[in-house]
Amino acid sequence: MISEPLRNPLSLFDVKGKVALITGASGAFGRGCALALGALGAKLLLVSGSKDELAEVAAEAKEIGAETRTMIARPDSLAETQAMLKAALDAYGRVDQLVVASGMNKPGFIQDLSYEDWQKVMDANVRGSWLLAKAVGTYWIENKVHGKMLLMSSVRGRHGNYSGYTSYCTSKGATDALTRVLATEWAKYGITVNAIAPTVFRSKLTAWMYGDDEVGQATKARSLSRIPLGRLGEVEDLVGMAIYLLSPASDFCTGQVMYVDGGYTAG
Ligand SMILES: NC(=O)c1ccc[n+]([C@@H]2O[C@H](COP(=O)([O-])OP(=O)(O)OC[C@H]3O[C@@H](n4cnc5c(N)ncnc54)[C@H](OP(=O)(O)O)[C@@H]3O)[C@@H](O)[C@H]2O)c1
Repeated sequence: MISEPLRNPLSLFDVKGKVALITGASGAFGRGCALALGALGAKLLLVSGSKDELAEVAAEAKEIGAETRTMIARPDSLAETQAMLKAALDAYGRVDQLVVASGMNKPGFIQDLSYEDWQKVMDANVRGSWLLAKAVGTYWIENKVHGKMLLMSSVRGRHGNYSGYTSYCTSKGATDALTRVLATEWAKYGITVNAIAPTVFRSKLTAWMYGDDEVGQATKARSLSRIPLGRLGEVEDLVGMAIYLLSPASDFCTGQVMYVDGGYTAG
């Protein structure tokens, strides 16, 4: 007998009717995940600290027919992440997918970087993920939901270069560890946790590398020189992996950091 996934492999990627909570929804990856999931019929709660940009993304999501709600917030405290969960439950009655696409960087050599800036990066990239995991994961466990969590790591979680990344690299190494720990803690509940680790992609975060700034241009060139596929990433390069990790296709995949990097980490 031919099973359904072999007869109809696209059914493995079916996310129609699933409810996705996405933070950093105004950013490049948040927007990309929102539109791709929305286009496939998922219902969206888009969370962002940027009111006007969030309104633009929400308008795009509605334009492609996605059921969309918005919330102005960032995952800075447990009260805020619990409020995000509540907003999704109030709107849709459930949450199936959690995408943590909020994050930031503050490059600088350690001798120039303030402790406060180091802490800001750790808070945005690690604390936010942990607080979201706590709020939504607790709900998943208590309600027997086989949720799917997607974190945003980076090739910087594995590579120390470029110098000047003591905050960012540390935060992404922690994201990789958090992905593995949550995956093992939650496997028995049927919850999967994975991360995507991109190389340089065009976004607000990397805008300084695409302008006239000399250090930015040098950083971009150095990155490009190490990418076998010979170009930097665009958000369209990433959404296929995101859909995989948020759909039934990845039900036997958890605790993984998936490199979407043009071959950067292969070399
Ligand atoms: N672009 C790349 O080259 C690249 C490479 C590797 C990894 N990543 C990772 O991918 C994730 C998304 O980045 P992106 O490229 O989409 O960048 P982006 O366009 O700048 O989006 C990041 C979003 O994070 C939110 N944010 C900004 N500062 C924050 C803070 N202090 N606390 C909490 N949230 C904050 C903002 O969203 P709201 O205003 O909507 O809240 C912002 O739009 C990040 O974790 C980033 O480290 C990016």
